[in-house]
Amino acid sequence: MAGNSIGKEFVVTTFGESHGRVVGVVLDGCPAGLPLSETDVQTELDRRIPSKTGIVSGRIEKDRVNIQSGVFNGFTTGAPISMTVENKETQSSDYEMIKEMPRPGHADYTAGIKYGRFNDYRGGGRFSGRVTVGLIMAGVIAKKLLNTVDVDVLAYTKAIGNVKMSESPSAEEIKERKYQTAVRCPDLACAKRMEEAIIQVRKESDSLGGIIECIAFYVPAGVGDPLFDSLDADIAKILLSIPAVKGVEFGAGFEAAELKGSENNDAYRIQQGKVITSTNKSGGILGGMSSGMPIVVRVAVKPTPSIGKEQKTVNIHKMKDATIKVTGRHDPCVVPKAVPVVESAVAIVLADHMIRAGILPKVLKVKE
Ligand SMILES: Cc1cc2nc3c(=O)[nH]c(=O)nc-3n(C[C@H](O)[C@H](O)[C@H](O)COP(=O)(O)O)c2cc1C
Repeated sequence: MAGNSIGKEFVVTTFGESHGRVVGVVLDGCPAGLPLSETDVQTELDRRIPSKTGIVSGRIEKDRVNIQSGVFNGFTTGAPISMTVENKETQSSDYEMIKEMPRPGHADYTAGIKYGRFNDYRGGGRFSGRVTVGLIMAGVIAKKLLNTVDVDVLAYTKAIGNVKMSESPSAEEIKERKYQTAVRCPDLACAKRMEEAIIQVRKESDSLGGIIECIAFYVPAGVGDPLFDSLDADIAKILLSIPAVKGVEFGAGFEAAELKGSENNDAYRIQQGKVITSTNKSGGILGGMSSGMPIVVRVAVKPTPSIGKEQKTVNIHKMKDATIKVTGRHDPCVVPKAVPVVESAVAIVLADHMIRAGILPKVLKVKE
């Protein structure tokens, strides 16, 4: 099963299954000299789980990070960094039924066809949202690296079902408010309606999806390589590898298809000796390279596939139609938990491209 690594200079490999001993990540290519502690990583892992009951599953998932290598005297050494988290909250018996009856919308059927009796179906195995813990841990390091050159990557919930935030918030608003709300939305009134929508859908044994927006501020112009290594292609690839992400758009995105050139082009102007654009329909990327404007990307997250409502499926052993009510502890909406994953994924690609562009050096100048 290849395909678990991403990046050229900042190479992230995640490993582990939902109900295996650990989930983890190996990060190769992190410059030496970055201050790093387990507390840095732990803070972000703790933010993964919204504290409010009713909008997340009953799984407690008290994750404790363990950094095994690549850090010495509180700084990265340039060697591979290995980090793991133990899987403690596993209830594999919940998954016996899906050996025979694949959950509609999950990867049980496709993984069963591909890996046969060797497929680790427990908790969705390698196809579980749980494996994104590795991305979050690598993302902590990517974001710290980007901060050394003043780049800030911030994601937040823009929509849950049909409850949408209309305005794009400022960096300060996202930072200050998104963790005040269980749904990770910086508009407090909108967040309340989102929570209510999730609580309601849970009562109906159903689920909801939503939209996450991620903005990378202060990325200098010219980051990204041609064609197949373009910045937007690489960002789209990592985002689409997050379980449940079904769509990616930059800037005006799909709306651009309905605009005229004169409406969609971002006009240039000079502001305080710098080239900027009056609008940002391109989402900060032109020709696969950053334009110097904020990089704005949105992902569509589908509703959680595992729902208690009765659905049609098949019994693949008996080759007969069947019905399934998925039991176990599933989030009625995975969007809040996916927010730090999206933020980490974008940061990982930016760190990789900025090392490739020589903007981030192989050895950092340590401020003593
Ligand atoms: C953070 C996170 C948590 C998730 N939790 C669940 C869950 O509790 N139950 C579930 O059925 N799917 C969950 N998913 C989604 C499935 O893993 C995903 O839909 C499945 O692997 C099929 O992949 P696809 O939707 O990308 O095609 C989660 C996804 C993420 C990113």
